[in-house]
Amino acid sequence: MALPQDFLMELKYRNDIESVLSPYIALKRRGSNLVGLCPFHNEKTPSFTVYPENGSYYCFGCGKGGDIITFTMQMENLDYIDAVRKLADKAGLRMPEDNRDDKELKLKNDIYAVNAEAGRFFHSVLMSPKGKAGLDYFLGRGLSLKTVKRFGLGFAPDDWHALENHLKSKGFTDYIISAADLTSKSEKKDKFGKNITYDRFRNRIMFPIINIHGKVIGFSGRAMPGNEKQGGKYINTSDTPVYKKSHNMFALNFAKAVCSKQAILVEGNMDVIALHQAGFEMAVAALGTSFTEEQARLLSRYTKEVVLTMDADSAGEKATDRALGILDNVGVSVRVLRLPDCKDPDEFIKKHGNARFQKLLDSAMSAIEYRLLTAARDIDLDAVDGKLKYLNKACEVLAALNDPIATDLYAGRLASKYGASKERLLNVIKNIVEQKCNGKVRVELREISGALNIQKNEVNPQKGKYRRAAAAEEAVISVLIRHPDMLDSVLNRLDPADFLTDFNRKLYQRVTEILGTGHGFDLVLLGEGFTSDEIGYITKMLTVGTANENAEKVLDDSIKVIISERKALDNPDVAELDDASWAEAMAALSKDKKKKPIG
Ligand code: UTP
Ligand code: MN
Repeated sequence: MALPQDFLMELKYRNDIESVLSPYIALKRRGSNLVGLCPFHNEKTPSFTVYPENGSYYCFGCGKGGDIITFTMQMENLDYIDAVRKLADKAGLRMPEDNRDDKELKLKNDIYAVNAEAGRFFHSVLMSPKGKAGLDYFLGRGLSLKTVKRFGLGFAPDDWHALENHLKSKGFTDYIISAADLTSKSEKKDKFGKNITYDRFRNRIMFPIINIHGKVIGFSGRAMPGNEKQGGKYINTSDTPVYKKSHNMFALNFAKAVCSKQAILVEGNMDVIALHQAGFEMAVAALGTSFTEEQARLLSRYTKEVVLTMDADSAGEKATDRALGILDNVGVSVRVLRLPDCKDPDEFIKKHGNARFQKLLDSAMSAIEYRLLTAARDIDLDAVDGKLKYLNKACEVLAALNDPIATDLYAGRLASKYGASKERLLNVIKNIVEQKCNGKVRVELREISGALNIQKNEVNPQKGKYRRAAAAEEAVISVLIRHPDMLDSVLNRLDPADFLTDFNRKLYQRVTEILGTGHGFDLVLLGEGFTSDEIGYITKMLTVGTANENAEKVLDDSIKVIISERKALDNPDVAELDDASWAEAMAALSKDKKKKPIG
């Protein structure tokens, strides 16, 4: 295990869960627990529960759960070791010297260093005669030299080994260069039998991706004009130990300082850069992915409102719909800016200048207006039944608002625009709301149980197949967690190999390992080998399962079930039998044995 148990327990005691969570969530006491609105999904009634007793939290709505470490990972977008480090800093605890930890940290630092050097290389090539085509391209698209420098833009030469050779001359190893995804491996081997590597980015203009701490974490390389068909218009760094594109945003390193009131989300890197140059430094873009929930959560740490300014095409419309939903979910308010007569913000700025863009920004549509507008998609508003269809859809949009004043206002507007009666519209809306309310309890219940089921299946996909065994396995683990003194008795009777489902086996092994050291069980001791879904699931076992007075009996029965299911699995002929016949068969078998000893 990477971090010593004593350290982890100390970390936990110095960071009580309430103090870790309360900067992010308003918590209210309920009995011995605390409840609040879940920060991981949008909800109106609190299903997020904190259990100070064992330092865990669990959301009954979305199934996220865990301890101070997982919470910090999820909330701050950190990996395990960085989350631990943050909590240790907060509590004034020194991180223990740990070999593997050191190795990981060193790898990351080396990748940061090689990325920084690659960025410098690309930039210096851009500024040299070799990069003239690239620089001309940037200048031709209206960027000033100052902007080119500020963003550290660069050029990757049309050469299979230019970057690689440069980095090696600076002392970087093959291993680090490829860990940073700056080279690829070819099928061809050199004379030592090693696969030949080559530069990933060739003949491309280069955009370094810089994280919120100012470190170069990856690159986007755009093909030179005319070459877009070869190898893709953009090539992006794949995920590396320092980079996950779905968790980062282009230019947030600059934007974060000025976007507290408002950020602008655009599609392209060039759009971002053009906007920054025009003074709109709160512009950011997703990095070659469709906008993700993690990116939304990251943005929500820096801004209250996001203005969606996607390209004016059908892909842009889809991206807008998607981002709208995701930002809604993390509680960031959204407005939508539509560009008249231009395909993207870059073109608009160039054509009309920043004052006109500012005007568009000021008058950007609210999310409701946008939804009302898009409700008319594919509807012929000139036809009478088209109008009716639209008004119905519009009423549904307003019904979802949950805001009587806005509803009244927009119903009035719709009424006068389409010659309908406002009262009628309000009535329709009221009906929809009432229907929804009736349906809502059901939907909510379904969602909650749905979330749990989905999560269950994802965490332990074999559960459906081995229902009986899986339940028994969970029972054993639950009892063990609550009664560490039963460890030896369980270990004597139950081998990890007896488990039928892989997830429970893994958990059983980890739990017995922890208990074997003499510590009681604690979530913080689980360490790094579990995904956040798995930890959520384990938390649920831990917090929702009841302390059982009949622990011993539960344990005996469960172990019997596991062993018998294991036997049945290994011996498929017998497995065809149902429970009753199984008992009979077993009884008969033992009688037979007595009668006719083998051999
Ligand atoms: P666009 O095709 O709109 O590119 O893709 P752009 O940046 O506006 O480029 P210009 O204006 O045509 O020169 C928008 C973003 O989607 C990602 C890139 O991050 C790009 O900036 N993308 C696009 C990819 O990752 N791969 C691709 O092949 C295309
Ligand atoms: Mn573009």
